[in-house]
Amino acid sequence: MRHLIDPIDISVKELDKLLDLSLDIIAHKDKYSERCKGKKIATLFYEPSTRTRLSFEAAMLELGGSVLGFSSADSSSVSKGESIEDTVRVVGCFADVIAMRHPNEGAPMLASMYSPVPIINAGDGGHNHPTQTLTDLLTILREKGKLENMTIGLCGDLKFGRTVHSLVKAMSRYAGIKFVFISPKELKVPDYIISEVVEPAGIPYEEVTSLEENISKLDVLYMTRVQRERFFNEADYVRLKDTYILDKAKLKDAKEDMIILHPLPRVNEIATEVDEDPRAAYFRQVMNGKYVRMALILTLLDLAY
Ligand code: CP
Repeated sequence: MRHLIDPIDISVKELDKLLDLSLDIIAHKDKYSERCKGKKIATLFYEPSTRTRLSFEAAMLELGGSVLGFSSADSSSVSKGESIEDTVRVVGCFADVIAMRHPNEGAPMLASMYSPVPIINAGDGGHNHPTQTLTDLLTILREKGKLENMTIGLCGDLKFGRTVHSLVKAMSRYAGIKFVFISPKELKVPDYIISEVVEPAGIPYEEVTSLEENISKLDVLYMTRVQRERFFNEADYVRLKDTYILDKAKLKDAKEDMIILHPLPRVNEIATEVDEDPRAAYFRQVMNGKYVRMALILTLLDLAY
């Protein structure tokens, strides 16, 4: 039985197959509309979500399956003290696959040790968000036509942004990648990402504070929200929250074919005036999230034929 806990649980070869399957689903939706008939996904969300939970549910519904689950810990027996281990043993009696989001890093990994069905990590604390990474990769592939030979700028909260950590892990496996990490010093990418992921892969990188001075070299700009919910004090959040606001003026030096991604939700780090720019790919990115999750469900349920 396969789980998806960390973005590198999937090899590059398997990832290629998953992205190919996503493209086939986009091109031939009818072919897949009954593929999960009789199957159920449980979405166990101990943290708020709009995109991830609803895209998993939409994905299973479009595959002809059904959905069940909860959208907050308060509405489950977790509020009575039930453990993650017991919760997944129970939900595994009702569902064929479980997508779990949890504020504690490692919670989906723990769940995978006890679950009778595949567990998908839908975000664990500030750690990983592998299905957002699949979404990001499919978007880069569709927008740029490749996953190699690119300079990727990651901007904002690189410390707490789990989507950043997962994307860096996944993209570090492709040739010709360079990273430009753009953040205030308080929100730098964690040391372990540099020492255990970027440097061992021999990837050139820079850590800088200015978006304006670096935007011209980027092929992909990955903006992120400052993660208020992970700060220990509100004063630090207030001081840092407006550090980067991408607007039309800041895009003047960007390449014509640079793409702007954001895992969303945004607060104010991308001005709404940017939405009309053809380089703004973040809503197309949301749609890709549904397709890649359809491909993932099929793969984990051994229905990807
Ligand atoms: N990108 C993302 O994880 O969004 P949600 O928090 O709305 O699921």
